[in-house]
Amino acid sequence: MIEFLALSPVFDTGFKLYRMIEVIKEIEKIRHLVEKKRAEGAKIGLVPTMGAIHEGHVSLIKLACEMTDYVVVSVFVNPTQFGPGEDFKKYPRNPEKDMRTIDSAGAHCIFSPEISEMYPGEYSTYITVEELTKGLCGRSRPEHFRGVTTVVTKLFNIVDPHIAVFGQKDAQQLAVIRKMVDDLNMTVKIVTGSIVRAQDGLALSSRNMYLSGEERKQATVLYRSLCMASEMAASGVTEPEEILGKVREVITGQDAAKIDYIEIVDKDRMTPVTKISDSSLLAVAVWFGKTRLIDNIILNGKNG
Ligand code: PAJ
Repeated sequence: MIEFLALSPVFDTGFKLYRMIEVIKEIEKIRHLVEKKRAEGAKIGLVPTMGAIHEGHVSLIKLACEMTDYVVVSVFVNPTQFGPGEDFKKYPRNPEKDMRTIDSAGAHCIFSPEISEMYPGEYSTYITVEELTKGLCGRSRPEHFRGVTTVVTKLFNIVDPHIAVFGQKDAQQLAVIRKMVDDLNMTVKIVTGSIVRAQDGLALSSRNMYLSGEERKQATVLYRSLCMASEMAASGVTEPEEILGKVREVITGQDAAKIDYIEIVDKDRMTPVTKISDSSLLAVAVWFGKTRLIDNIILNGKNG
């Protein structure tokens, strides 16, 4: 069933011409639609999201539009990737606004299933990527990546895209998905979008809206500390601990900040490095009040 149709102008030539984006809730419907497009020769792109669409998501959608002919954006707040006591219930949901933004970004279709459609009562199959998920976010969120890889596999099986776009913002998630695709011989090509930031450097995130004014101000320390680390690496510092010590000092200078982790890891393996190279990733997770923010930068290398 097509849930509702968004009307949004694509261009204005004196009188308005309107385009409609389809919002589909059923697996069979989206499968059928995408199969038809593929049979017509269209290259299919997928951008998985949990909604609360911001400019970071929009950049991924635009990238998918440049690379493919038919772009599906999934909007699904996936319950299996939230741990007990996490923010599943209060996660921001705004389907109408999301629909308009996704439409203006140029996507062709929204897949927004109900939980019962993705996880019916008798559901019992999960995908786990082993080593990569143990450290960093996996330490404080032990079930998180199992939920992510499970839902992403389901989305890949449902949409069967040629490419899927993920953000560098969630560097460990990206590495885990790349590993899963490689290990399980999936044919989808994973494309990375670089991190979109607010003017003051804070990485855009659906969770930023939980921050109080003061926490939001203090959270800018994250990007400042990443840039400082990057400059240290560029100036020839190769000892991870030297950089980590400085980053820790700068971040703890903010009284609202409580560090979950600050680590320098190999960007593909997600394991700590003993010397900085162009594949070293500085990854941070820091609490500001009740909100946990993550950010990262590739030291000495290309950031998207
Ligand atoms: P969500 O947090 O909605 O993010 C969807 C995609 O947007 C992810 O690939 C994420 O890395 C990317 N993204 C988030 N903030 C960004 C920013 N500031 N700049 C660029 N890209 C950004 O990540 C998830 O949802 C879920 O885990 C999901 C993969 C959809 C599985 O449920």
